[in-house]
Amino acid sequence: MNAISSLDSESLLIEGGTRLEGAVRISGSKNASLPILIASLLTSERCTLKEVPDLLDTKTMRELLESLGATLNIAGKLWEIDPSGVNSFQTPEEPVRKMRASVLAMGPLLARFKKALVAMPGGCSIGVRGIDQHLKVFQLSGANINISHGYISLEAKILKPVEYTFEVITVTGTENALMLLSACEGQSVLKNVALEPEVIDLAKVLCSMGAEIYFEGRTALIKGSEYLRGFDHTLIPDRIEAGTLAVASHLTGGDVLLLGANPEHMHAVLEKLAECGAKISILKDAIRISSEGITKPLEIATEEYPGFPTDMQAQFTTLCSIAPGDSKITENIFENRFQHVAELQRMGADIQVRSRTAYIKGKRALTGAEVYSTDLRASASLVLAGLIAKGTTIVRDIYHLDRGYEALEVKLSSLGARIARLRYSNQSGAFSL
Ligand code: EPZ
Repeated sequence: MNAISSLDSESLLIEGGTRLEGAVRISGSKNASLPILIASLLTSERCTLKEVPDLLDTKTMRELLESLGATLNIAGKLWEIDPSGVNSFQTPEEPVRKMRASVLAMGPLLARFKKALVAMPGGCSIGVRGIDQHLKVFQLSGANINISHGYISLEAKILKPVEYTFEVITVTGTENALMLLSACEGQSVLKNVALEPEVIDLAKVLCSMGAEIYFEGRTALIKGSEYLRGFDHTLIPDRIEAGTLAVASHLTGGDVLLLGANPEHMHAVLEKLAECGAKISILKDAIRISSEGITKPLEIATEEYPGFPTDMQAQFTTLCSIAPGDSKITENIFENRFQHVAELQRMGADIQVRSRTAYIKGKRALTGAEVYSTDLRASASLVLAGLIAKGTTIVRDIYHLDRGYEALEVKLSSLGARIARLRYSNQSGAFSL
């Protein structure tokens, strides 16, 4: 059984009905760790990154970097990367198939070797997730691009600075462009860039390596340098993990302290939680979310940052499924990000999806069921539903969850949730705790 299929069979067993209470530390941001780790390919000097979360995706990133010749020394959440031995411009297929963010290797490999051979990421359950914008920037900078046999090959004689306006706001597209152009001598201008905190954290690292990057609204001015130094950086906290746990507290009428969460990255989410009755206190190094119940329905439309994040849409679909009244959630970023709805309906949620909008009639309660994860944030929404459902819920295929949440069941049970990981044994053909 290969790694993923043995993980396939891991499930979470949840007994609903407990109120969450206590303090939990927020992990480092998955979506900041991935571009920053891959930015080490831009230098031959040692790089250190602190607060790296222990996730399937960061494990995959480690595989990818080592396959290219980097040496990694990991002590808990401290990662040291020695990229001096990087000797390959070709990514293996496996990591890219497992993790789309591997496309972030294109920019740094092109900058380092003037060529790159990166497996096409292929399909993804939440949408097409094109990379045309990434490629447009590479092309403008001087790369010839050829797609064949499932691989993207990029080759350039020289790479020059670029002036480009993105046709869509893209997080990893902006990140790929920032990494490439930070390694190009001269002044580049990117317009209509993504401004997610993870993009800004990467830009901070690139500046510490020797690039100069300034943002004016959605315009980024980049002064690149042929020679980039190593970095020593501490990751920002994961705003989506914090948002997910904040929803868990409100859903269960709880009182939870999110240690290390940064409220500056979470305005849109905190506003929506407060709008439906959560009490939010901003403390020195924590956010307190307490609740005496959900007071009203919500209308939400996902947008690029600083708007309401698409990565919190599934979690709020669960919250609205027990909010009094009729809620409406429109998903504007991805075309297929309502796969959790069918599973929530099996738990009794009253949700109708028409085009990009979910129309939700709040119920008094959900009932436990066996449900299947389809993607990272969908699996989180099912765990949240299990916390409040009457009876027992089993969430299957939680490798989706493990891609982006560090031992979520451990954090939830430390807050009082009755939740355990079930492992499937091939020998006995049964699940065990
Ligand atoms: C990043 O994905 C995040 N992943 C996603 O988080 C997040 O949902 C997404 O941004 C939106 O915020 C990482 O940072 C590793 P996009 P990314 O390029 O960069 C279209 C999670 O749950 N588009 O901003 O792949 C695209 O199809 C993950 O942690 C093009 O058309 O998303 C999509 O509809 C899921 N052409 C929209 O733009 C392009 O060249 C936004 O995509 C690029 C994107």
